[in-house]
Amino acid sequence: MKGQVLFFSALALILLISGSMATVASSWVNQDVVRSIDLTSQLSKSTIQIKARALKESSVYQLAIDSSYHSSIQVFDEDSRLPLLVKFDSISHKKVKSEGVLNLKVIVTLMGQMKPYPEHITQTQGQLVKYTDNHYFSTPYKTESQKTTVKLATAKVESASELSPSSVKGNTVSYGPYKNIEAFTVSAMSIHFENNAPFLVITSLIKEYEVSHWGNLAVETHYDVQHKGAALKGAFSRLDFQRQPSPAHIAEIQEIVPKSAADFYYRDSIGNISTSSYTHHPNHLTLKIVPRFPLMGGWKNSFYAGFNLPVGQFLSVDSDTGSYVLNVTFGVGIDNIYVESHTVKFILPEGATDIKVTAPFDVKMSQENRKTYLDTVGRPVLVLHLDHTAAENYQYIQVSYNLSSMAMFHEPLLLIGAVFALCVLIMIYVRFELSISKNNIVVDKKTN
Ligand SMILES: *[C@@H]1O[C@H](CO)[C@@H](O)[C@H](O)[C@H]1NC(C)=O
Ligand SMILES: *[C@@H]1O[C@H](CO)[C@@H](O)[C@H](O)[C@H]1NC(C)=O
Ligand SMILES: *[C@@H]1O[C@H](CO)[C@@H](O)[C@H](O)[C@H]1NC(C)=O
Repeated sequence: MKGQVLFFSALALILLISGSMATVASSWVNQDVVRSIDLTSQLSKSTIQIKARALKESSVYQLAIDSSYHSSIQVFDEDSRLPLLVKFDSISHKKVKSEGVLNLKVIVTLMGQMKPYPEHITQTQGQLVKYTDNHYFSTPYKTESQKTTVKLATAKVESASELSPSSVKGNTVSYGPYKNIEAFTVSAMSIHFENNAPFLVITSLIKEYEVSHWGNLAVETHYDVQHKGAALKGAFSRLDFQRQPSPAHIAEIQEIVPKSAADFYYRDSIGNISTSSYTHHPNHLTLKIVPRFPLMGGWKNSFYAGFNLPVGQFLSVDSDTGSYVLNVTFGVGIDNIYVESHTVKFILPEGATDIKVTAPFDVKMSQENRKTYLDTVGRPVLVLHLDHTAAENYQYIQVSYNLSSMAMFHEPLLLIGAVFALCVLIMIYVRFELSISKNNIVVDKKTN
């Protein structure tokens, strides 16, 4: 019941944003909606196929997203297959004439919609979770026909809410078809089932790209992780674990890194080296990090990992402006993970100016200064921050900047200058000694 109240309030919030319900509801009608909800990981991923008919000429279609969870939303025009711009809860689209039809594919990933239930389990128990949703597609428009299938992580279903016609078959729960459902109709859906997928959350992630125009792009990432599934009840027994591993523990973390990555290192917070390895794939490497202890429910761990990349593959020069453009990924290449606090830093060469970012999503930006080896004024550090990111944020972003050749040669010139000065000193010293010895000879000759 509480879930239902929450749901109503969340939908009400979106109604407020979208203005008067009467005008919204009279602009579209959903002819057919097919929802597939994937609950095989810790994230709930809905793929929604919508066929909507415009009741009057319109360019904005509105979506109702449950605002009690963090979400990432992608929308594609099924006719042109192009991604569309999503602003809060509405989709800007080409103008659709009255009685015209819009075909959309909407992908919504919600974080934390599955709650461990019970919240505490013993080492040998499987993890049960409760999923709550709406049996109907939440929308500000009337829906003529709709159905929903939910794919679960396992076929161990404790209970699933019913709304005829509905069924449970193996790990699939089906709802509908339902006909002629009015706008914003809510009927609470609840599914209680076993899900031992890793409920691994990165509570804080700080990734640094250090750019050197002399060949290297150093990448280092600091991770604070937590197992946010059902918390472990009682003490952990290594012996029992070796005999019978827990169904819901996290033993390793696999991250996708660029194919050209080399010189890997990995450390945990106490400075202890745990095992890590990588495997080759046609387009990338997979870095596997195995902490010294398996991560049990509620447990935390912190570690960092790094590698080097050849800068030439990621840095190019814009032929129009002469600016340097660094093209690298934002986000982590770990499947089905989400990050609560996500920071990416770019340590640019000393003297870089006109720093700009191009990203396919909004990020918070700020700038710092960092002094390292051989720097005189320090390097500009561009800091990007985003809260609550998911796999959708594993995308390429571009950082551009100007760097005069003077600034670029600053460090080598400094080095060359130092070496030159040293040579001059040695030369003077040697000459000085020579002239003294010559003098001595001359003096010797004179005295003779
Ligand atoms: C690293 O871990 C091992 C056991 O796994 C322990 O004996 C050792 O003291 C640890 N080293 C440090 C520096 O914490
Ligand atoms: C610096 O970058 C801007 C674009 O960001 C460009 O218009 C400008 O010409 C550049 N200046 C130099 C000196 O390269
Ligand atoms: C960035 O790099 C990726 C992968 O190499 C490439 O697909 C993408 O087109 C690049 N983007 C830009 C703007 O250069």
